[in-house]
Amino acid sequence: TPRVFSGIKPSGGLTLGNYLGAIKRFVGMQGGEFETVYCVVDMHAITVWQDPTELATATREVAAGYMAAGLDPTKSILFNQSQVSAHAELGWIFNCVARVGWMNRMTQFKDKAGSNAEKVSLGLYAYPSLMAADILLYHATHVPVGEDQKQHVELTRDIAAKFNHDFKVDFFPETEPVIEGPATRVMNLRDGTKKMSKSGESDMERINMLDDADKIAKKFKKAKTDPESLPETLDGLKDRPEARNLVDIYSALNDSTPEAVIAEYAGAGWGQFKPTLADLAVAKLAPISEEMQRLMNDPTEIDRILANGAEKARGIANPILKDTYDIVGFLRG
Ligand code: TYM
Repeated sequence: TPRVFSGIKPSGGLTLGNYLGAIKRFVGMQGGEFETVYCVVDMHAITVWQDPTELATATREVAAGYMAAGLDPTKSILFNQSQVSAHAELGWIFNCVARVGWMNRMTQFKDKAGSNAEKVSLGLYAYPSLMAADILLYHATHVPVGEDQKQHVELTRDIAAKFNHDFKVDFFPETEPVIEGPATRVMNLRDGTKKMSKSGESDMERINMLDDADKIAKKFKKAKTDPESLPETLDGLKDRPEARNLVDIYSALNDSTPEAVIAEYAGAGWGQFKPTLADLAVAKLAPISEEMQRLMNDPTEIDRILANGAEKARGIANPILKDTYDIVGFLRG
């Protein structure tokens, strides 16, 4: 069976961007033609400083978010990365396959490092090679991600191809990024040219999965828009990034399309559309955040589920790592 792999970093709280761009789509791929493996990538989180206690909490929060949104540990493998040491081991091999020039082209690294590239961790720089290991350790062919991860999944293909070429094998498969639907790039509510992220300065920029109804309503109410009402056609949203973003969010929450949302709300003003959007968001998110809270009240149970998932993950990963070691020429007794 073809396999799906994806992951989320436990670095701060989950946002609506993570939900619509990733988790909701992970759920959509569960229980069908794919075997689904979803990871909480704690080793990626520490590429920037994480307080140890907060890292543990954030790891459980991502796991709770997965399950509250509908990922089922009997249907998908759910685990945290650091419990499967093969990720680090294959990551090292890929550090020796990937080229420095490839890393230098990663736009996310350039954005995150900014003018401070001398001071960031070596791990942040090498991160895409660990991400390639995450995926290829399961021979995963489909990787559902948001738009911002596309370049990293493409790099995964380059690493697989170079490995296969250098060692003259046909071992690692070609991986497809799966980037579909209206919410693969949810934007910041205060600036429609920037991505909504866990780490943006102001909390008003983002909806957190654990925000209560009042907060959600307030954030949409204060979201930046333009003075014009909603247009008659999607074309009318061109060069209106904030307006486009709210329409995209509405359609993703409602399993609809931006076209259908425009058809329904053509001519509506923001005073009408924003509260409707807030109500929809609350209706969709409240049951999930309540379930997240409930799950997080029992950390031992979450830890048990992750340990169980890690056991299953090792069952797939370790044989693939072993074959990789044989290909590379590492001796084992
Ligand atoms: P991370 O933790 O930054 O984000 C997790 C997932 O959420 C998506 N996402 C968004 N989608 C739409 N709009 C947004 N504003 C938004 N913000 C985040 C991301 O695209 C991602 O799919 N490197 C990855 C984690 C990772 C991974 C992997 C993913 C590590 N190994 C292997 C796939 C396969 C990351 O930092 O995602």
